[in-house]
Amino acid sequence: MRPPLVRALLGERLDRPPVWVMRQAGRYLPEYRDLRRRYGFAEAVANPTVAAEITLQPIRRFAMDGAVIFADIMTPLQAMGVEVEYTPGPRLRPHTLADVASLGTLDLDRVGHVAETIRRVRDRLGPDVAVIGFAGAPVTLLAYLLEGGGSRDFVTMRGELRRDPDAAAAALDGLARAMNAYLRLQADAGADVVQLFDTWAGLLDADQIRRWAVPAARTALSDVGVPTIYFAPGTVHALDRLVATGADGIGLDWRVPAGAVATTLAGVAVQGNLDPAVLLTDPDTIRAATRAMVRRLGRRPGYVANLGHGIHRTTPPEHLQVFVDTVREEP
Ligand code: CP3
Repeated sequence: MRPPLVRALLGERLDRPPVWVMRQAGRYLPEYRDLRRRYGFAEAVANPTVAAEITLQPIRRFAMDGAVIFADIMTPLQAMGVEVEYTPGPRLRPHTLADVASLGTLDLDRVGHVAETIRRVRDRLGPDVAVIGFAGAPVTLLAYLLEGGGSRDFVTMRGELRRDPDAAAAALDGLARAMNAYLRLQADAGADVVQLFDTWAGLLDADQIRRWAVPAARTALSDVGVPTIYFAPGTVHALDRLVATGADGIGLDWRVPAGAVATTLAGVAVQGNLDPAVLLTDPDTIRAATRAMVRRLGRRPGYVANLGHGIHRTTPPEHLQVFVDTVREEP
């Protein structure tokens, strides 16, 4: 039998929705902070023993239905020769569109540590728990590459897409092909599901999402061989465009109205979408909001319970337990 997470993404309606949480392997967990005292972030990602251990930490505590591999969206770019520092967000040299287009192909040997982490995690989990691989979507990677790090508005990326569309197309196509190879490597190593994170696509208008973000994501996700999820927070203004990525499931942030989901995303699975801020409140508030979410989305075929974005680093772990338990209570 396939893991419940896989079955949900393929459109099956399950008695209880499978559940995992974006950023579930991270700083809100004391056992993660303990390990990070001994290993730098990049060092932990590069070491399959440590990365597998961090991946498994939230599974031990919460028995999630999916284990998301500990790495970063910048990891494959480092393997393409981009030097990245984490402070804790990524910092790098600002690139031009031409620099990005000339990064070339991804040398799969240089991300062999990610494949090895996946094999180790897959070996240590039962057949019901899905291993989740991931990559950053081309638009989001381009945003970091052009800006040289994080930004609230990524104006460089938004300007460059307009200034030189041909060069932008070449840069995005190169990134899309590299991420496609990277996702296939993860599926071949044993990932049961892969997710493409398009964190910054929501900064674009609806036409730009259709023109740039969707085709690039489609290339990155094509023929990966396992079910795929596309997550682009803040794209409610282009929700009807996202299905064209070809993803089996669409990740929703907490602002997406339930009515729009029912009509616009009828043919795909959906994942989400509790506001991560709810987990900073109290058990009664968490239970009520989680029940409301499952009532809203859980009846459709193909539903995966999750937050609407990554878990906040100040979240008490016992609040995440309340969320997971509530998703799993008798319908
Ligand atoms: O549990 C997981 O989801 C595991 C792995 C994971 C990380 N980053 C680990 C990480 C995943 C899936 C990501 C994705 C990622 N990285 C995204 C897309 C997801 C999203 O939130 O929209 C983005 C935009 C990045 C880029 C990035 N890397 C940022 C913004 C940061 C700083 C994060 C912060 O919370 O301050 C990182 C570093 C990073 N990646 C950390 C972790 C656990 C924190 C590093 C530390 O321990 O100091």
